[in-house]
Amino acid sequence: MTIDLAALPHDFLWGTATSAYQIEGAVSEDGRAPSIWDTFSHTPGKIAGDDHGDTACDHYHRWREDIALMRQLGTNAYRLSIAWPRVIPGGDGQVNAKGLAFYDALIDGLLEAGITPSVTLYHWDLPQALQDRGGWPERATAEHFAAYAEEVAARLGDRVTHWTTLNEPLCSAWIGHLEGKMAPGWTDLTAAVRASYHLLLGHGLATQAIRAAVPQAEVGIVNNLSTVHPATDSPEDRAAARRMDGHTNRWWLDPVHGRGFPTDMREVYGVELPEREGDLSLIATPLDWLGLNYYFPQTVTADPDGPAPHVRQVHRPGVPRTGMDWEVDASGIETLLLHLTHEYGARKLYVTENGSSYPDVVRPDGTIDDPEREEYLRGHLAACAAASRKGAPLAGYFAWSLLDNFEWAYGYDKRFGLVHVDYRTQVRTIKGSGRYYADVIREHGGLA
Ligand code: NOJ
Repeated sequence: MTIDLAALPHDFLWGTATSAYQIEGAVSEDGRAPSIWDTFSHTPGKIAGDDHGDTACDHYHRWREDIALMRQLGTNAYRLSIAWPRVIPGGDGQVNAKGLAFYDALIDGLLEAGITPSVTLYHWDLPQALQDRGGWPERATAEHFAAYAEEVAARLGDRVTHWTTLNEPLCSAWIGHLEGKMAPGWTDLTAAVRASYHLLLGHGLATQAIRAAVPQAEVGIVNNLSTVHPATDSPEDRAAARRMDGHTNRWWLDPVHGRGFPTDMREVYGVELPEREGDLSLIATPLDWLGLNYYFPQTVTADPDGPAPHVRQVHRPGVPRTGMDWEVDASGIETLLLHLTHEYGARKLYVTENGSSYPDVVRPDGTIDDPEREEYLRGHLAACAAASRKGAPLAGYFAWSLLDNFEWAYGYDKRFGLVHVDYRTQVRTIKGSGRYYADVIREHGGLA
């Protein structure tokens, strides 16, 4: 089945995405200090197999080879994240020249290869030094984030125009502070709500700092959103779905669009926001684009005894699932792109992540075919093209991920790459899905 890509703009960004802690390794080189993920992953029992990011894909030393892989895939864009603890190891204050120099060289390398860099400032690796002073539940962290953003923007802004403040703040706040399954590993609703507030405040402050340093910057935020379905038609389940929509989607979208924090969810959490005058307008600093990370839909039933938002996720029978046990439903990406267009008036959209994990089998000759990942990609690209035909201003798609990498609490066992990584040898091999992606990009280029 070929996909009708004609509606996508000629200058569409065809990219792959990664993040610093998941691929770089070199955790104590050139002045980098620990982040909350170094601490968390080295705490026994937190990560499958007690894996950690000490070496990961060794991208810190192999980035030239990784750029060559991007060229082989034919991508014209790459979404990367900057490690705050490399640039300002103490979280605030002293800038580490060697940390910035690494990203400076990486950006030059990408541009030489004809690849547009899209830079994310925060993909979850808070300097441990700031965690020791309270972390995201404290307002000062938002201010330090803006100062860090300003340093990076001032250094790279002559070459980088695509900027993301936060990646998936939902995970930092809810999974990191409420569910305890990600760093810093807390299970404290008050801390989680305060963290969510300060993350969004940091986003607003950083947006202004980037704009001040780089007038031509295009700034956005990346959220992981889901379509949410009630498990049954009962009023309880429908109310549960509404709460889950608030928890996953509206809590993150409404404030940055000037609608404030949803009142129904404020009641559900019952936690006072650490609000000061002027914060809401800072949080709602206008954006150039919105980023959507989409993986799966959610089906929920009411769970009055469970923690806020008092829902339990269930699976719809008969719906296929990936190796993460996530349901495959490509229609969700189309629905969400159109929702961002119509409900929030998005002027420009990027799919900043989308992808799937399946157990890969390496053949004796070293080749890898991954038909399920390829099919997932095909279905979701087709749904993106459909959204574009229906009017969503979609300007790019970034496949998660360029490489197999450190999948947070799941360690290295879950592979999302279009390129396979043998962690013993660090040999990279393009999978069938990567070859398929290259074909799609070539075909679209042929249309232009
Ligand atoms: C979203 C996160 O941004 C990324 O770091 C993660 O690896 C993927 N989802 C897959 O879970």
